[in-house]
Amino acid sequence: MRNLKFIIIAVMMLPIVSLSAEKGHRSALLQYDRQIDGIISQMTLEEKVNMLHAKFMFVSAGVERLGIADIKYADGPFGIREEMQPKGWAGLGWETDKATFFPTGSALAATWSPELAYSYGTGMAKEARLRGKDMILGPAINIQRIPTGGRTYEYLSEDPFLSSKLAVGYTKGVQDNGVAVCLKHYALNNQEDNRGTVNVIIGERAMHEIYLPPFRAAVEEADAFGVMSAYNKVNGFWCAENEILLDKILRQDWGFAGMVISDWGGTHSTVRSVKAGLNVEMPDQKYLGQALIDSIKAGLVSEETINQRVREILRVRMAIKPVPEDMANKEMTSQPAQQKIAYEVACKSIVLLKNEGALPLKLENKPVIAVIGANATQIMATGGLGAGVKTLYEITPLDGLKNRIGDKAEILFAQGYEPVKFSWVRKTPEQLEKENQEKELAAQKLAKEAIEVAKKASIVLFIGGDNRAVETEGSDRKDIFLPSGQDELIKKIAEVNPNIVTVLTSGAPNDLNVVKPLSKALLISWFNGSEGGNALADVLIGKISPSGRLPFTLPVKLEDSPAYALGNYPQGKKSADVFANLVSETESTDKSQEKKDEAAKGDPNTAYYSEESLIGYRWFDTKNKPVMYPFGYGLTYTTFNYSKLKTDKDKYGKSDIIHVAFELKNTGKMAADEVVQVYVHRVNPSVEWPAKELKAFSRVSLASGESKTVKLEIPIENLRYWNETKHAWDDDLCKIELLVGASAGDIKLKKEITLK
Ligand code: GLC
Repeated sequence: MRNLKFIIIAVMMLPIVSLSAEKGHRSALLQYDRQIDGIISQMTLEEKVNMLHAKFMFVSAGVERLGIADIKYADGPFGIREEMQPKGWAGLGWETDKATFFPTGSALAATWSPELAYSYGTGMAKEARLRGKDMILGPAINIQRIPTGGRTYEYLSEDPFLSSKLAVGYTKGVQDNGVAVCLKHYALNNQEDNRGTVNVIIGERAMHEIYLPPFRAAVEEADAFGVMSAYNKVNGFWCAENEILLDKILRQDWGFAGMVISDWGGTHSTVRSVKAGLNVEMPDQKYLGQALIDSIKAGLVSEETINQRVREILRVRMAIKPVPEDMANKEMTSQPAQQKIAYEVACKSIVLLKNEGALPLKLENKPVIAVIGANATQIMATGGLGAGVKTLYEITPLDGLKNRIGDKAEILFAQGYEPVKFSWVRKTPEQLEKENQEKELAAQKLAKEAIEVAKKASIVLFIGGDNRAVETEGSDRKDIFLPSGQDELIKKIAEVNPNIVTVLTSGAPNDLNVVKPLSKALLISWFNGSEGGNALADVLIGKISPSGRLPFTLPVKLEDSPAYALGNYPQGKKSADVFANLVSETESTDKSQEKKDEAAKGDPNTAYYSEESLIGYRWFDTKNKPVMYPFGYGLTYTTFNYSKLKTDKDKYGKSDIIHVAFELKNTGKMAADEVVQVYVHRVNPSVEWPAKELKAFSRVSLASGESKTVKLEIPIENLRYWNETKHAWDDDLCKIELLVGASAGDIKLKKEITLK
């Protein structure tokens, strides 16, 4: 019944007239409006409509007659995409467009550093400018709702606060360096399966408290100039024509003054889209070309609406100076300054999950090290469609180890397994059968070679994990097990050499039930950019201490995670039950069995977010479910002590700021960074809350023996909830407990205070 209520609430929210449109920030883009008035008054209707759709695959038109340059876009969130042909998805095959491959989203998030996100954005902007680009199609900031999400690696975190802080840093870094961002994919594009058809059914509170905050923060705190509407529907309306999302929330409430472009092929109408707030149809003009001119002439949409859409584009055009054709593409995209940023991010992203004295590697007596695993040599830059980077170079884990200790150790290598390869080709059952037999033979040979190499070594570095064919745009994983028989292989290796250090180069969670007990040390090293192998080697040899922290929970098993536990994903029985209720409720006369059977198949095009705000650690901690490793977890090569938690007051009013202070000491032998985290637990709330929520964090660098007073702030307004009756933010003034810790599962200090 609860679900039915949930659905009714979700559907009821559609025609909401804002009762309390909170005014957002005042965008710097508004300064151009007077100048734009003059430009628009000179434009013909055709010139205006010509701006509202693609000119080429990654270009939308300016107004040549008036000297207004086209707008040039470039994928992706972690590297400026190669130069593409004007029409179609092929590159032009240039030599000078090889870019720096920055660590992907979840790796950046694992640094828990808004400062590094700013540097990252700076690096992306520098390379975009070299290529003459005006808008980067990134950052990708959807919340990681499901561990299997095809783009979980591209996104940042399961937590809205961490995602928001990094989205703001990235956005400021890009826009402070003369390029516009395009926040994507707005909104609730949290799965890849059926992404172009799925209708997300979600309640207001979860939408405002969990899924929208990264977009809101990047607009209100960093004045983002661009937003990309997502492929999916939200509560029945396509994102590219969703008035609630594009007008009421984005523009009226948040004060967004820039431009909305559709995802490629994600536009579904002419009048509804342009009225709702879509500025540019990409990559063609099926709806916002001649069809729009016809609609205007038929009186279905006013020229005033068109003028407003054009104004929003011109604001961005005026803010971003075009790069003259003869200045662009004059040198290699990837530059040393950006490669250095990629290295810094990679170093601080690597998460040490387990270490039973195996790390740092001991290099006296020139040990024999067996590096086993195709992930040690795989290139992770390309793949994943729009997010692929034609990179100038990529240091793989094996490269990095040879660079750093090639003279200090004898390094042996064995591929160990055949990596998953991306394939568009549809195969017949016979072809698949033959292929599987060949694969089985190849796998046995590779495993045998790996075991021979393992026997000769004093230590095995097992470099496994996913790759960009396993985690990719366009499809979700079916499970989170390590691919290519890695679990079986590591069991065989452990039989001949138990001294195993395991490194997983994945972007999203894996099932660790086999590798964890067999590994003396266990790390996640992400899809970690052009410098990823050097960063990994520096951590393994102890040149730097690992300092990454998990941006998402690692579950004991996939089925424990909320959307799976509730049967909400993949669209399966649970949603069928709800669907069946709907059928029985709405068609009381027709209880026909086939309706029920149809419902029991689940509905792949409806995603019920009935877990509401309980995603990630919010779910596991509220339901007291054990996890493999908690959100925010990560070890270093030292230890830290937390003490003396204080707040400036014991009682706070709703416009106050909580000032938190505590002592942090590095009690070990090595310098390292600690990422301190402050969570809030509501003691006697008037509405339901998750058990805890992240509300402050900071990366603190301390030398061995060094102490520091850490100071953090939590504005009380950050503790509000979205009141679904008032359709507005509201206060829940109650007792709260501040939980200071090293992860969601490792609280060191607590203090109760009162909101009055
Ligand atoms: C894709 C992606 C989007 C990308 C766009 C252009 O379908 O969803 O992230 O920016 O098309 O490549």
